[in-house]
Amino acid sequence: MAGGPTTPELVAAVGAGGGLGFLAAGYLSAEAVAEQIGQLLARSSAPYGINLFLPSSQRGDPTALAAYAERLTPLAATLGVTPGAPRWEDDAIAAKLDVVCAQRPAVVSFTFAAPSPEVVTRVNEATGALVAATVTTPEEARAAAAAGVGALVVQGIEAGGHRGVFADDPDRPEGGDAYPLLDLLRAVRAADLGLPLVATGGLMDGAGIRQVLDAGAAAAQLGTAFLCCPEAGTSAAHRRALQTRAFDGTRMTRAFTGRPARGLDNALARDPFHAPAAYPEVHHLTRPLRAAAAAAGDLQAAHFWAGTGWHAVREEPARALTTRLLRDVGM
Ligand SMILES: Cc1cc2nc3c(=O)[nH]c(=O)nc-3n(C[C@H](O)[C@H](O)[C@H](O)COP(=O)(O)O)c2cc1C
Repeated sequence: MAGGPTTPELVAAVGAGGGLGFLAAGYLSAEAVAEQIGQLLARSSAPYGINLFLPSSQRGDPTALAAYAERLTPLAATLGVTPGAPRWEDDAIAAKLDVVCAQRPAVVSFTFAAPSPEVVTRVNEATGALVAATVTTPEEARAAAAAGVGALVVQGIEAGGHRGVFADDPDRPEGGDAYPLLDLLRAVRAADLGLPLVATGGLMDGAGIRQVLDAGAAAAQLGTAFLCCPEAGTSAAHRRALQTRAFDGTRMTRAFTGRPARGLDNALARDPFHAPAAYPEVHHLTRPLRAAAAAAGDLQAAHFWAGTGWHAVREEPARALTTRLLRDVGM
C-alpha cells in the first residue's frame, strides 16, 4: 500500500504472523526503496514481497488538465494552497528495478500494466523471485501470462486503492470492465492459463478468504484490513475517517489521481470538478490540496483509499491480525 500505509514495520509484523508482507515501492525514490528494504531486513528474516508501479503509456490532455486545475483553484484557495503542476513521470521504474534486482524478495509484483517479458526474465534471474502482475479482466490476465509472469493477482472491483487496469477507458468510471472478485476469479480460471491466482478485493476476514480459496485462488491479498494496524503509516485523518465511520461507504473516483481508485465517499471523491483520465498528472495536480486537507483534518478533500469491506477494519497489531486470519481460515 504505497503512499504511506505500508512501512517496513508493517511488513515485518505480517511476516512474523505467517503472512507474506509486501513493501510498496510506488511514489518512493529508488533510494527510499533501498532504505526500506534495509530497514525490513534489519528486523525480519521472513520472506517478503515488493510491489512496483509500471508507467502508463497514456498521456493526459494538457487542455483538460489546465481546465481541471482551474476548476479546483477555489477549493485549493480555501485550503491555503494552489493546484500543483500536472506532470507525467514513470515513477523512476528503471532505478527501482535496479534496486530490487540487487535483493532477494520472494515475490515481485507489478501493477498498472503487464511487465515486459524482458523485465520478467531479468527479475527472475537476478532475484529468484516469483513475478506477479495485478489484473482486473481475463484479457489482462492473458496479456500478463503471455509476458511470462508466474502468478496473477486477480483484483475485484471491491478493492481499495487504485484499480490495476492496464488501459484506463475514460468513458467508464471504473476504467474498464468492473468484475466482482468471485466472477473475475471464475473468468480467469476459465481462461486456463495454468498460473496460481491471488485473490484481492474486499477481503476482511477468514470467511472471505476461505471463500476465494474454495473458488480456486491459491492465496488471498488484503489491504484495507491492515490500514488501522499500529505498525501501518496510515495518516491520522485516514484512520479517523475509517474508525469514526465518517462516511457511509466507498466509491470509485478519478478525482484525486486521474486513475480509477476506490476510497471513502467524501465530497471530492464525488468528483464535482470532473477530473480527466490522466494518471499521474492529476496525482501531481491535486497533491497540495490533499496534503493540506489531511494536515488540517479536513475529511472532505483528502483521499482515503478503502475497499468495500472497510467497516470491518479494526485497530489491531498486524501480527495478531495475520495470525487470527490464518487461524480462521484453518491454516
Ligand atoms: C491504501 C491503499 C494503498 C494501495 N496501494 C497499492 C499499491 O501501492 N500497489 C498495488 O498494487 N496495490 C495497491 N493497493 C491495492 C491493494 O493491492 C489491493 O488490491 C486492495 O487493497 C485489495 O482490496 P482491499 O483493500 O479491500 O483488501 C492499495 C490499496 C489501499 C487500500
